Amino acid sequence: MTIHQASARAHTNIALIKYWGKKDQQLILPMNGSLSLTLDHFYTDTTVVFDSSLKADQFWLDDQRQSATKISRFLDLVRQRSEQKTFAKVKSYNHVPNAAGLASSASAFAALALAASQAAGLNLSRQALSRLARRGSGSATRSIYGGFAEWLPGTTDKDSYAIPLQEKVDWDIEMIAVIINRQQKKISSRQGMERVVETSPYYPAWVKSTQADLLKAKKAIQAHDLILLGELAESNALRMHALNLSARPPFSYFEPQSLVAMRLVEKLRTRGICCYYTLDAGPNVKVLCAHKDSQIIKETLQSVFAPDQLIEAFPGPGVQLINEK
Ligand code: PMV
Repeated sequence: MTIHQASARAHTNIALIKYWGKKDQQLILPMNGSLSLTLDHFYTDTTVVFDSSLKADQFWLDDQRQSATKISRFLDLVRQRSEQKTFAKVKSYNHVPNAAGLASSASAFAALALAASQAAGLNLSRQALSRLARRGSGSATRSIYGGFAEWLPGTTDKDSYAIPLQEKVDWDIEMIAVIINRQQKKISSRQGMERVVETSPYYPAWVKSTQADLLKAKKAIQAHDLILLGELAESNALRMHALNLSARPPFSYFEPQSLVAMRLVEKLRTRGICCYYTLDAGPNVKVLCAHKDSQIIKETLQSVFAPDQLIEAFPGPGVQLINEK
């Protein structure tokens, strides 16, 4: 019996300029580039053990046995690359509310990419890891890096990967996550994307305007311009959600409480406080702001939300190996 194992930790990222639609379902090539901030508070720890005595892959999430179908398909890519056939036991612990639009798939597949490739004896570059993580979930591409990262859309498997824009974020920026619903979402991001690409008449305008947003957002990051970055992120998020409303049949990830949080953020802005919201494929609202303003923002949000619904997160690190438990 031979056993090879490795463990890795990856953090989630929140897209400020979003990926919403694929041009290749199989390879997960996005229609447009995207840009994100990796967060310290939400992460996944994953251990992969290739064990020659196993008859099939096994997967545990937070100590509960799960179907290994998706994980197995991903491990097949690692097995192909390392020219081996051994099955693996995968154990993950998610420090992220699952599938509630807090990008648990991003941290999950970034951690799995590093742990599985190392356990298989592959020493992949970060670019190769980013390409591999992409095959599990598009947003995982960006979680290889800390801080701000950009996913270059590319046209083939080889040139679609993330690059770091600013791994050490040395200016005052954070996100407050407003946890509205911890339930699994009804429409997966895969289904949502497919539907908008196929049926929204606004889709071409989305791709065009997002490319322009991305260029401006990169300049805002370079200039440490939180107002410009926030305005771009909020408007880009609303355009993504407008695609969903314009699809056939229409759908939305918003819940009444999402709109309440969004209005509170807008109200804070009329009082001169710099804060902007974004939402992914779920009802939770993430508020981009400076730490110096976080107290007053939380106090205002607490007029409606309980303190444990508000989680502050700062820029976080890229994927790394950890000691197995
Ligand atoms: O990687 P997926 O399939 O979970 O898609 C994530 C899509 C968004 O979170 C909505 C946007 C993004 O760029 O992360």
